[in-house]
Amino acid sequence: MKNLTISVIGLGYIGLPTAALLASNGYSVIGMDVSEHAVSTINQGKIHIVEPDLGAFVRSAVSAGRLKAFTKPQRGDVYMICVPTPFHESKEIPQPNIDYVLNATKSIAALLKPADLIILESTSPVGTTEKIQDVLRNEGVDVDKVFIAYCPERVLPGKIMTEIVENDRIVGGITPEATKAVAAFYRTFVRGSVLEVDAKTAEMCKLTENSFRDVNIAFANELSIICENEGINVWELIQLANRHPRVNILHPGAGVGGHCIAVDPWFIIARDQANSQLIRTAREVNDHKTDWVIEKIKSAADDFLTQSGAKPKIVCLGLAFKANIDDLRESPALSVAKNLISQGYDVEAIEPNLDYHPEITLISLEQLKKQDHIVAILVNHREFIEHDLAKIRGSNILLDFCGALAKH
Ligand SMILES: NC(=O)c1ccc[n+]([C@@H]2O[C@H](COP(=O)([O-])OP(=O)(O)OC[C@H]3O[C@@H](n4cnc5c(N)ncnc54)[C@H](O)[C@@H]3O)[C@@H](O)[C@H]2O)c1
Repeated sequence: MKNLTISVIGLGYIGLPTAALLASNGYSVIGMDVSEHAVSTINQGKIHIVEPDLGAFVRSAVSAGRLKAFTKPQRGDVYMICVPTPFHESKEIPQPNIDYVLNATKSIAALLKPADLIILESTSPVGTTEKIQDVLRNEGVDVDKVFIAYCPERVLPGKIMTEIVENDRIVGGITPEATKAVAAFYRTFVRGSVLEVDAKTAEMCKLTENSFRDVNIAFANELSIICENEGINVWELIQLANRHPRVNILHPGAGVGGHCIAVDPWFIIARDQANSQLIRTAREVNDHKTDWVIEKIKSAADDFLTQSGAKPKIVCLGLAFKANIDDLRESPALSVAKNLISQGYDVEAIEPNLDYHPEITLISLEQLKKQDHIVAILVNHREFIEHDLAKIRGSNILLDFCGALAKH
């Protein structure tokens, strides 16, 4: 199989690690991305995204001549589609946007030949793999002669180069033959188990994993609001409840962010509104938690103004969507900071993983001396937990929305 040429379409957080890993396994890999910046950076043996160990893989693949990037699709034997699958925000129920997937599919149609593998890795609503088949058929491809399958990616940013090899994979083909052919390909470079199902089950499996996380975080977030109203420390409560052998409550926070957990449940809801009430409510509870955090900070700031006659500075600790990363996509912390600024509050932020933000003034932890600030801890970054937050307490008002103080 190693004599096959692999064409990876979309060279972002998923496509580029996949391309580099395949090249390191001896495959000849052609990467394709519509972004000229991505393509030219990769062809210099460099990377345009932040991910540990990826740089070394790409450098070695490019210098060995096994990875080349292009802005137009090139002919291969295996096509892996790794393009974005966001949602259309304007609707009451956000609707999945699979235009990138369909456009990428159209772009390779003229290159296909019998026995080629066409694999979708993007997180997609149920039915998308069948739509790929429809698009190819409409473009004149004999779809009975190629193998089309879905194989969702489950890696954790920050550990992609390990998890992309070690994680179990689910392969769901349009036909049993497609499942077998594509699963055999994954077994050449994945050390985890490769599990064979049909396309719809594989699509639903990925959405289920992220919805499960969303629902469980919603439980923790709802609990945190109830506890605040009761004067109960939710962090202590969760630790106590988790001593029960069959209870494992997750951590509350400022909401749920990122381009996966905050997005994918909508792909289920949009398809079957009547029967996805728990999943929808969880989405709403998690979004509501962010609004609740904003109201809490505003109320503290307004009380401060009433009592002292001075407008306080609000310092947001963290802007990223979760701890120890720089990714701001769908970040509740970022949305808290921006919302307060839009309402005229005086806001600065400390984000150890960013040097600059175009709309928010960034300061350092050291600059946060004992002053009359309102400090809202929004993300559990390592730097915040390791820092003796008591030192900044002084006359600052500390609002902890992610349990950073509970660790002291
Ligand atoms: N990043 C993750 O941790 C992660 C984990 C699991 C699943 N996923 C899923 O994988 C998919 C890709 O995510 P990502 O994080 O790699 O996105 P990304 O934005 O980092 O990369 C996608 C790339 O596709 C390119 N692109 C868009 N349209 C194209 C086209 N028609 N032809 C070629 N290139 C095109 C973009 O320029 C971009 O470089 C999404 O469905 C996402 O939900 C991501």
